[in-house]
Amino acid sequence: MSSLQLRGIVKRYGTQPVVDGLDLSIAAGEFVSLLGPSGCGKTTLLRIVAGLSDCDEGQVIVDGADMTGLPAHRRNIGVVFQSYALFPHLTVGENIAFGLKARGTPRGEIAAGVRAALASVQLAALADRPISALSGGQQQRVAVARAIATRPRLVLLDEPLSALDRKLRETMQIELRQMLRDAGMTAIFVTHDQDEALVMSDRIAVMNRGRIEQLDAPEAIYARPRTPFALNFVGLSAQWPGTVVSAADGSLTVATACGEIRAPADASLPVGTPVLLGVRPELISLSPQHNSDADGTNTVWLPVTQTVYRGANRLVYFELPGSTAPLLAEMPTHAGAAPQVGQRLALRWAARDTLVFAAERSQALA
Ligand SMILES: Nc1ncnc2c1ncn2[C@@H]1O[C@H](COP(=O)(O)OP(=O)(O)OP(=O)(O)O)[C@@H](O)[C@H]1O
Ligand SMILES: [Mg+2]
Repeated sequence: MSSLQLRGIVKRYGTQPVVDGLDLSIAAGEFVSLLGPSGCGKTTLLRIVAGLSDCDEGQVIVDGADMTGLPAHRRNIGVVFQSYALFPHLTVGENIAFGLKARGTPRGEIAAGVRAALASVQLAALADRPISALSGGQQQRVAVARAIATRPRLVLLDEPLSALDRKLRETMQIELRQMLRDAGMTAIFVTHDQDEALVMSDRIAVMNRGRIEQLDAPEAIYARPRTPFALNFVGLSAQWPGTVVSAADGSLTVATACGEIRAPADASLPVGTPVLLGVRPELISLSPQHNSDADGTNTVWLPVTQTVYRGANRLVYFELPGSTAPLLAEMPTHAGAAPQVGQRLALRWAARDTLVFAAERSQALA
């Protein structure tokens, strides 16, 4: 088990930084996901940690020792690539033995190392099968076994589950996490799937354009996103513009095209600040009655534009004045039939559940 610190990592291709002054500290035994859209620099960052690419600035520190500039084979870091990168003509056991030999494991210890690694991914019975005769999920487990067989200080996994079908992927998320926990590994796991990151991680690093926008436990990322990007990327929510009109008594009042909305106090948002508001769909309750607001509650009265059935719940879309995007509310399916399109409903949520962000200029004008 090792800790990892990244300090001020910069990587440029041409003049464009694809990793842009990134800092990250990971504790020994921790499972951290890098979550972000395609092209934000996730694979580039993993390659820098593994020693497969050089960085232009910054330091990679493992257990307090500077690894920057050290070649990959001297770092003792296990990597699982998206493509698995297994040798198809070798058997399962030979694939794992290959990794051990390449790391200079004494001959006499290789057979035991292969057995232990296969046991940890529950594939002991398939040691003699060729890779080409395995399912995608089994290949994925062999790739993990190969990465952990050398008892690395750190394992890096680059979208290892993206080739699997949804059901298998969900099973593997739980298994893989458990496997790495049992093996006591520190892990960085790359994904652009928010659900996967929420399910698997001790902490999630939300990445955007070569930087980390927020690093937090899954619950904090979802309930208290710190930027509009993090709100947008993890979970559903409308985002609509407004202006702070009062900041007193431990709360903010924000004027918007659908009326005044109350939000928790935020000292960094004085009166006059353009802001973006958000609220998670499951925190909104719907009702056909337009009663006056209870204390600490927001109510807006909007027409339904669409409903979407999702099994356990429905998503109800509302037209939101002053925004091109709809406001979304979630309604449990057992709560009754879907509302009619065009019907007006009262949407209510607690003032403390309103998320509020300083708007960038372009967003405030949108
Ligand atoms: N060798 C290279 N030369 C030039 N540009 C590169 C090179 N490798 C990556 N890039 C660019 O760097 C950016 C980040 O790439 P990277 O592969 O790290 O993204 P990613 O976050 O892993 O995306 P994805 O989710 O699609 O895998 C992209 O714009 C990519 O085109
Ligand atoms: Mg990638």
